[in-house]
Amino acid sequence: MFSSLLTAAILCVGLQVVNVAAQSAAAYCDSTSGICYQGYTDPTINVTIGIILPPLSTGTAPNRTEFIAEIIAPASFGWTGLSVGGTMAESLLFTVWPYNSEVIFGPRWTAGYVQPTPYSGPIITMLKDTKLNSTHIKASFRCQNCTTWEGGSLGSGDLSGFQLIAYVANDDTPVIDPSNVASNFTEHDQMNFFGLDLSTAHSADYDTYWGAQLEYQQCGGTGWTGSTICGYGLTCVYNSAYYSQCLVE
Ligand code: HEM
Ligand SMILES: *[C@@H]1O[C@H](CO)[C@@H](O)[C@H](O)[C@H]1NC(C)=O
Ligand SMILES: *[C@@H]1O[C@H](CO)[C@@H](O)[C@H](O)[C@H]1NC(C)=O
Ligand SMILES: *[C@@H]1O[C@H](CO)[C@@H](O)[C@H](O)[C@H]1NC(C)=O
Ligand SMILES: *[C@@H]1O[C@H](CO)[C@@H](O)[C@H](O)[C@H]1NC(C)=O
Ligand SMILES: *[C@@H]1O[C@H](CO)[C@@H](O)[C@H](O)[C@H]1NC(C)=O
Repeated sequence: MFSSLLTAAILCVGLQVVNVAAQSAAAYCDSTSGICYQGYTDPTINVTIGIILPPLSTGTAPNRTEFIAEIIAPASFGWTGLSVGGTMAESLLFTVWPYNSEVIFGPRWTAGYVQPTPYSGPIITMLKDTKLNSTHIKASFRCQNCTTWEGGSLGSGDLSGFQLIAYVANDDTPVIDPSNVASNFTEHDQMNFFGLDLSTAHSADYDTYWGAQLEYQQCGGTGWTGSTICGYGLTCVYNSAYYSQCLVE
């Protein structure tokens, strides 16, 4: 009942209500992955959502169209969902649930209040701290081609603007076929929102979060066991058999 009223208030009165009545994202670092997010931990639903974007373009190059996010929820939940557009319809959605020891995760989309179906477009790379333990399920992912989607975009196109983030869950009913990422499932029985000021959600460390090296960092050479991938706009330049470095080409 409370969540229905909250939703109604948001939908009818607009974002001012959200800013006043609901919570906002704050900075935190995930101690397992080392990734520092803007996000929120819901003390009632017990879900944590974090999101972080690459730096904004400082020149004429277009802004990058990706982000990294995590969803942490109780392992007992049937499924947990994230809407980065803040609504159910015409938003980029994600669902996650457990299957044996696996984490089943994927993007979804729907035009209305009906079962969202798998969505193609987002290029998803699961990050290595995605896991299921005895108490929690955690999906940590890089989402490329994800700042715009059919019917909307992050910050309504302004990557330093405001974005309402929504999360939902069904806290007791497993999905119909948990082995199948496309499985159908019953409606959420938990729902909440937080406000995200996107101007605070761009990190200079972004490329390190998915495993790349930053400018001037090493990317190769005899004995090098670190990452051999350079971040956006950088190339791994050979210097000697012992040393290659990420540089702007
Ligand atoms: C069988 C699947 C689903 C059904 C039948 C369903 C149905 C509904 C209905 C009827 C509402 C409006 C009533 C209310 O406010 O309580 C709603 C709201 C919402 N749903 Fe779903 N839902 C489903 C799955 C999902 C999924 C997978 C997500 C996200 C990953 C999601 C996200 C939301 C959000 C964010 C809202 C509140 C904002 C809004 O009304 O747009 N839903 N849903
Ligand atoms: C969240 O955790 C608290 C404390 O363990 C518990 O009382 C509550 O039922 C949990 N909420 C949900 C939706 O599972
Ligand atoms: C990006 O996503 C959109 C849907 O949001 C899709 O139509 C488009 O084909 C995708 N582009 C690439 C390069 O995957
Ligand atoms: C399970 O994972 C959660 C979320 O990452 C973590 O907070 C918790 O400490 C883990 N529990 C165990 C027993 O490893
Ligand atoms: C990148 O996004 C920011 C924030 O929306 C905007 O001010 C800037 O003009 C954009 N840059 C380009 C090249 O589109
Ligand atoms: C989900 O339900 C719809 C409608 O009944 C059906 O067409 C679709 O095949 C189902 N999807 C899966 C993966 O079972």
